[in-house]
Amino acid sequence: MLRTHDLRVDFANVQAVAGVDIELPEGPFGLGLVGESGSGKTTIGRAVARLVDAADGSIEVDGRDITRITGSELRSYRRRVQMVFQDIDGVLTPRMKVGTALAEVLTVHHIVPRTEIRATVTQLLTDVGLDPELAQRRPHELSGGQKQRITIARALAVRPRTLIFDEPTSALDVTVQNLVLETIEQIRAEHELNYLLISHNLAVVQRLCEQVAVLYLGRIVESGPTNQILRRPAHPYTLALRSAVPTLDPQHPDERIVLHGPPPDAANPPSGCAFHPRCPLAIDICSTQQPPLQQITPGRQVACHRSKELLTDPKRARTP
Ligand SMILES: Nc1ncnc2c1ncn2[C@@H]1O[C@H](COP(=O)(O)OP(=O)(O)OP(=O)(O)O)[C@@H](O)[C@H]1O
Ligand code: SF4
Ligand SMILES: [Mg+2]
Repeated sequence: MLRTHDLRVDFANVQAVAGVDIELPEGPFGLGLVGESGSGKTTIGRAVARLVDAADGSIEVDGRDITRITGSELRSYRRRVQMVFQDIDGVLTPRMKVGTALAEVLTVHHIVPRTEIRATVTQLLTDVGLDPELAQRRPHELSGGQKQRITIARALAVRPRTLIFDEPTSALDVTVQNLVLETIEQIRAEHELNYLLISHNLAVVQRLCEQVAVLYLGRIVESGPTNQILRRPAHPYTLALRSAVPTLDPQHPDERIVLHGPPPDAANPPSGCAFHPRCPLAIDICSTQQPPLQQITPGRQVACHRSKELLTDPKRARTP
């Protein structure tokens, strides 16, 4: 079990993550992180992978706080939690054959004896649905989807227990996206992984994540079981995100909710509920009082003064 409590990350005058609690039970299990650009998704992932320091709060693994570990303990933790990056070209060494690159990871981290390296590279490529022959290719000789699967194989090479996928499919076209999603489905079962999956795409989260957390300006505004949240959002921001994806519920497409105004300036967050300048349901209290994140049903939490109305009568709650 991996969990964060009141996790905070600051960059100069920006609170990128402003007190976030998440939980990753033992795998196979997926937690989706959604929210628009700048909401803090990648920073949460980087903090959990200990690639950026938490300003406050804790990250516990099996009951132990790893927020401040250093040295060899930190190196071994960083193997345990692997990040699969959005920028696939930044991860692969351009002139190196992908088989050699994978073999190097296995050697540097002493994952298997030298005699087993070739077979392990073959197994890794097979695990992510690729032809082992691709070991002979260099990154520029691969398609976008193949490259993305190589980055997953590279992350798997060190035998992690947790993966963090940062927009794993956003750079790919739809058919290729599908192959990558299938790969994730397969490895999550085979390797009993738990993972954070960061995505703008709610359909991807619906397919791969049991739970979802919706972020707005560094805070969770709604979290809980993915199906419940996507079927009946209790926060107007989730409703707006859902309305942008008609394919989630083709029989009952939402009326499209267009958010007015740009995303807020993270260095200068709005008072009260940070969403209030753009919220179609905002009332007076919203500009002065920040709604706490509260449990509304077992396992479901939401931070909105009007969540009860929104849950009981989504149509009426559309108008202030
Ligand atoms: N290295 C950094 N230095 C300074 N500010 C940063 C840094 N990384 C992120 N930020 C700021 O922290 C906030 C959260 O950024 P983050 O990258 O986590 O958002 P995100 O939700 O992943 O967005 P996107 O969907 O665009 O990837 C933003 O205001 C961003 O400008
Ligand atoms: S608290 Fe108010 S402004 Fe914030 S989401 Fe709820 S209704 Fe909208
Ligand atoms: Mg990001």
